[in-house]
Amino acid sequence: MHAHGLTLRFFATPDSAARALAREVARAVSGRPRFTLGLPTGRTPVPLYRELARLHTQQRADFSGVTTFNLDEFLGVAPSDPGSYRAFMQRHLFSHVNIAPRRIHFLSGMTDDPGAECLRYERQIARAGGLDLLLLGLGTNGHIGFNEPGTSLVADSHRTRLTEGTRRSNAALFGNRTANVPTEALSMGMGTILRARRIILLATGPSKAVAVKRLVQGRITPQVPASFLQLHRAAEVWVDRAAAARLSVGGT
Ligand code: GLP
Repeated sequence: MHAHGLTLRFFATPDSAARALAREVARAVSGRPRFTLGLPTGRTPVPLYRELARLHTQQRADFSGVTTFNLDEFLGVAPSDPGSYRAFMQRHLFSHVNIAPRRIHFLSGMTDDPGAECLRYERQIARAGGLDLLLLGLGTNGHIGFNEPGTSLVADSHRTRLTEGTRRSNAALFGNRTANVPTEALSMGMGTILRARRIILLATGPSKAVAVKRLVQGRITPQVPASFLQLHRAAEVWVDRAAAARLSVGGT
């Protein structure tokens, strides 16, 4: 199903979506001498990463040519901190597959010059040839990466302030205490995201239904950062039944 520039794919459950997406990623990266992959964190990709680890164990996913760039990181959080997105990725994916450590890239939350750090990241992505495939999750408020809703969006990687709701949904990483979640982060910008050659956004569960509706069938607005994906020529939205529940068939 096509709506605007977006391609939609529907699945019965979060697990069937994760399995299909893992097969798709495995197919895309395996046997490629060079492949640049952009990666998200959050609860949504956990089953996907579990499945990629399983495929790798079964020798059905080979990451030897893969270079990764994660979308975002909390400001002031060290990679060794268990709450960091870097540590999350290590736990859920990197420790289970054959991605060369020197090809794993992250925005550094420990930088004392966020502007320079963001510029460095943009250059690193460009030097790697740009992102071949960018996987995305979706915030319940329509954010992608840490591009929060607002009156304007930032194109390149940048420093950003997190909304209360976003901090709450990240509390699990910080002992279930929202107060311990950092107030700021570094994130790829909307331009960084839209420059990826192919984008697949995965959204599952009833809490994403409104955001999915706005992303797919709403107006393009900085109030719903994900709606900008409608401008991309190869963006896909993969949803389970619960996340697709509010989509209207044949119109808006
Ligand atoms: C976080 C991340 C996003 C992620 C979103 C959704 O704030 N920065 O990249 O997509 O939350 O998270 P979840 O998948 O846990 O709903």
